[in-house]
Amino acid sequence: MSLYLALASPSCCEASALPTMAKSTFIDNLLARMSVTEKVGQLRMSFAGADLPPPTALQAVAEGRVGSMFTHPAATQAQLRSFQEYAVTHSRLGIPLFFAGDVVHGHHTIFPIGLGLASSWDLDAISVSARVAAREATGNGLDMTFAPMVDISRDPRWGRISEGFGEDPYLTSRIAATMVRGFQGQPGAVDSLMACVKHFAAYGAVEGGRDYNTTDLSAQRLYQDYLPPYQAAVDAGAGAMMTALTSLNGVPATANRWLLRTLLRQHWSFTGLVISDHGAVEELISHGVAGDGAQAAQRALDAGTEISMSDRYYLQALPTLTEHSAQARSQLDEAVRRVLSVKYDMGLFEDPFRRLQGAQPAPVQFSHPLYRSEARAIARRSLVLLKNDDATLPLKRQGTVALIGPLADNSRDILGSWPANGQPSQAVSLYQGLRTALGDRAQLLYALGANIHDNPTAFDLLADNQVVLDPRPPSALLAEALAIARQADVVIAALGEPRGMSHEGASKTTLDLPQQQRELLRALKMTGKPLVLVLMNGRPLSIVEESQWADAVLETWFSGSEGGNAIADVLLGDYNPSGKLPISFPRTVGQLPVHYNTLNTGRPFIKERPSKYKSRYFDLDPTPLYPFGYGLSYTTFSLSSLRLSTHQLPPGQSLQASITVKNQGSRSGETVVQLYLRDRVASVSRPIKELKGFRKVLLAPGESRRITFTVDQTALGFYNQDLQWITEPGEFDVMIGLDSQHLEHARFELLEASR
Ligand code: BGC
Repeated sequence: MSLYLALASPSCCEASALPTMAKSTFIDNLLARMSVTEKVGQLRMSFAGADLPPPTALQAVAEGRVGSMFTHPAATQAQLRSFQEYAVTHSRLGIPLFFAGDVVHGHHTIFPIGLGLASSWDLDAISVSARVAAREATGNGLDMTFAPMVDISRDPRWGRISEGFGEDPYLTSRIAATMVRGFQGQPGAVDSLMACVKHFAAYGAVEGGRDYNTTDLSAQRLYQDYLPPYQAAVDAGAGAMMTALTSLNGVPATANRWLLRTLLRQHWSFTGLVISDHGAVEELISHGVAGDGAQAAQRALDAGTEISMSDRYYLQALPTLTEHSAQARSQLDEAVRRVLSVKYDMGLFEDPFRRLQGAQPAPVQFSHPLYRSEARAIARRSLVLLKNDDATLPLKRQGTVALIGPLADNSRDILGSWPANGQPSQAVSLYQGLRTALGDRAQLLYALGANIHDNPTAFDLLADNQVVLDPRPPSALLAEALAIARQADVVIAALGEPRGMSHEGASKTTLDLPQQQRELLRALKMTGKPLVLVLMNGRPLSIVEESQWADAVLETWFSGSEGGNAIADVLLGDYNPSGKLPISFPRTVGQLPVHYNTLNTGRPFIKERPSKYKSRYFDLDPTPLYPFGYGLSYTTFSLSSLRLSTHQLPPGQSLQASITVKNQGSRSGETVVQLYLRDRVASVSRPIKELKGFRKVLLAPGESRRITFTVDQTALGFYNQDLQWITEPGEFDVMIGLDSQHLEHARFELLEASR
């Protein structure tokens, strides 16, 4: 007999007899026995804090007024277990709870943040990161993660851009599907962590990058650019979808019938669960689409929001609403059915304690060494070398190295936003990583140099306000750093942002480094020493001057528990950097939006033939500082002999585009070969290029390899003005490169059906 059945006596818990029945019969039987309050309870997700369950929370569980819980990262398995025991033994029907949490880029073992994962362009490694996270999270009692976050964003002012996978629909879609499969593993297995994809839809397009602001997009842009990653996640079998806090074209996502019922359910055939974001039902009142809580609950349920996270109105309003409305009654039943179905799929009716077997309190759990080595492997693949003049990198293991900056010996911020159960005490700072890697072959000096941010008052408002600032004046910190720099053969400046600055509710009007840090870098430049800038941040920064001051620049994002080791691996050449940007770096904030896959416009700016009446800002180079897909290596690669298998493609068929990539240097290394397409003439304007394929390849010195991409009809299609997915005959450019700007070109014609 399962532990669940042992604990759940049939008299108190009728659900216990159900696992032997077929799923739909099981759910029908259970539903038939539920009171309205118990049904509404299944639609409510409450918060399980880090303390012992308060009696009132347990009481609510016992009364069937809560159906699932979202947990604090520090919630222990023992604590979750006591909730579950209450649910199965004290509630009338013994329906188990499920537990959800924000396991975004790792649980105990923290992997790079979303932008970092995406920079690896390595789907296998990303899959491993999600699998490890699932193993750890399910081992700690979780059934569901609020991830992956697949919101496309092209506005780095938005702090949450750190969580996503960048600006591109194709890359993000591939990663979205990979993450869903990685989290969920074998659906129903004990280590399967159900994925709740977020935030549906287009949260990343908030106006001005201001968090929670309005999202307003043309149908074309929505379908073409913003929706594909959610759809890819659905197609990969995601168990749940979270509504965005924002409105989409005037209707808040949580009350958006078209979004949730027409698009998600009807068009995409989504059968999983729709969960509101935190408090989103109540916020319908502030959005101005509901006059009170009752109306908010009614609109959300009617739109298809099944579970309401952290909200009181479902419980307050739905019983009365369903009493008077047959439609609401059937919507309630439909929603409860979905919740029960998900719990069934999670295996909770069979054994509600299947993910709650251990007794170890979460915060003191250590990552498995194997998981840590995976974290290091992907972290180093996620680092992007932006500049490397005069082969400043890799560094030699000799002489004196000065490591300076507020991110240099910082094992807290390196974990990034949403660090789940990642513990700074278990994370490796850059200082620690370099110390170990240099051993006694080189001297390592350290100074803080500057505080991590300039404005404590503003920063206190951010989500993560535990930064301890050095009380010394900036001039004293700077003087100490310069004294150290002058003794060194090379200076490494580890600069960037505190992790709370690239987080929810952390939008900014500037993309500059904090002022104290900029001044530090400028002063370090004046020492004349070779200067390496190691960036740790969760958004593209505007670093035009900084990139001139530094001889080498390495973008490391927030690289996780093994970040310090991984960065040391790259700085010292134990790993040859292979990361490529999943997002463009603007030159300045005024240039936004900057993304590679723009439309051509009627007056495109052509650098070789400049003229006033062209689409551009007259005071700035229109190109990004670093383009999408860009990243250097310690070796050099060349591309040659782009060939197409045909230049006349019959409709419905595919062609092969192949190219030779060669490692021309003396070090082995990996690069990412990228395929872009352009539909030259179509019924709607099509982007000047769109990523449609990529391959990460490892080549020995002097080695060359022929890479072949298949270009099929999916790659050629687009949404026309009637929002039908079609292909149109005509010419297409095929472009292959190692970034989105330097490309080899070929062309073919997609033939008409009748020819
Ligand atoms: C965020 C979600 C998150 C939820 C639960 C919300 O504020 O928008 O991304 O999953 O909180 O922590």
